[in-house]
Amino acid sequence: MMKNYISENQDRFIQELLDMLRIPSVSADPKFKNDVLRTADFVAGKLTEAGADKVEICVTGGYPIVYGEKIVDPQLPTVLVYGHYDVQPADPYELWDSPPFEPVVKHEKIYARGASDDKGQMYMHVKAFEVMMQHNALPCNVKFMIEGEEEVGSDNLGTFVKENKDRLQADVILISDTGMLANDVPSITTGLRGLSYVEVEVTGPNRDLHSGMYGGAVANPINILCRMIASLHDEHNRITIPGFYDNVVELSKEEREEMARAPFDLEKYKKALDLQEVHGEEGYVTMERTSIRPTLDVNGIWGGYTGEGAKTVIPSKAFAKISMRLVPNQSPEEITEKFTQHFERIAPKSVKVLVKPHHGGEPVVTPTNSIAYQAAAMAYEETFGIKPVPVRSGGSIPIVAMFKSELGIDSVLMGFGLDADAIHSPNESFGIFNFLKGIETIPLFFRNFAEMSKKR
Ligand code: BES
Ligand code: MN
Ligand code: MN
Repeated sequence: MMKNYISENQDRFIQELLDMLRIPSVSADPKFKNDVLRTADFVAGKLTEAGADKVEICVTGGYPIVYGEKIVDPQLPTVLVYGHYDVQPADPYELWDSPPFEPVVKHEKIYARGASDDKGQMYMHVKAFEVMMQHNALPCNVKFMIEGEEEVGSDNLGTFVKENKDRLQADVILISDTGMLANDVPSITTGLRGLSYVEVEVTGPNRDLHSGMYGGAVANPINILCRMIASLHDEHNRITIPGFYDNVVELSKEEREEMARAPFDLEKYKKALDLQEVHGEEGYVTMERTSIRPTLDVNGIWGGYTGEGAKTVIPSKAFAKISMRLVPNQSPEEITEKFTQHFERIAPKSVKVLVKPHHGGEPVVTPTNSIAYQAAAMAYEETFGIKPVPVRSGGSIPIVAMFKSELGIDSVLMGFGLDADAIHSPNESFGIFNFLKGIETIPLFFRNFAEMSKKR
């Protein structure tokens, strides 16, 4: 039985994951280049060991994509598994209780950068594949495509997908890179927000100035930038960029009522974040604000003197990184353009403004009436004992919309993470329960999907 095999081998599964978590595969920082490459080797090795054929470390313009497949019979359906082996930077290091790349198991959780996003979740698929192979129970074809640039925008994966359409032919794309509501409230993610990301630079005087000699007479770019940023939201917490909401698909009353049925405890939510009050767009509840509504947030702001002690200076420049989360049918190009025009327009003549666009991504909503969704829902019902709830998520995986537009394939987002995993934060973790439940649930998805595809 597959379940017995998982419990007999769970310690080894965990040790292997810890080995991978020890490699600091931070794609954003070139200092970790060798480690990112080593992680690709690691994944390729484990896929081979588990029984994949044609395992290849595909060279791209950036970090490689690990590909592997097991074709049981070309007549059978094919599942394409996508995941990423790169991780976010671990900063700030001093806020970690144990070093981010020295994983520890504590309170039934694995603590390390990437534990949940996405090494732990991606590795569930490698182990689920091993389990099926060991039991001669792989019911259909499977292809793996594990990339190393998700956290930096997946630019090269886009090219890879366009150039490898035949090799990537599949009936469904299976991804574990999202979360679920709670360990006793399984859920399947049915939507992801898009992203428009920009960096802005505000320049005042051509050099840093003595703030006593010049203060009051020239524009301070930090003061100006703060005022400009503050003006991007109105008193209802709506975004003030003209046309920002133009293409936003509003949900019907029925759809919003349906959404409200997913369990959510506002008091718990506030307590977990140590907040007196939540904040957001007027007229929408928290779950809506983080899924079906677009947002604008400053991710970083800097300029002037931030070292020890005091320095009396009017800086020449101020900077900020700003992200906008998008919903159907907003397009990242259009929003970036609207932001740029607006930001340039609201700048006073006393400063110069430069807007640099970064990566972006399209929002996506996945179907719940497909065979693949039903197969996933039945798998969760079997392993968790209750039906999973469909929920739209606030995060972004830009490649998912491209899988649909370029390959014509829908994704099923079987995420096993929790909000408490603190992905992208210090002390990221992944529950052992979640890791093992994933390994147990994935083969059932394969079985159901193969079975239900036959009947069509
Ligand atoms: N796995 C996350 C996306 C995610 C997290 C979706 C939680 C749903 C729930 C992914 O690795 C990620 O962090 N994506 C980035 C976008 C990317 C372009 C940097 C994000 O959402 O900020
Ligand atoms: Mn991820
Ligand atoms: Mn991430």
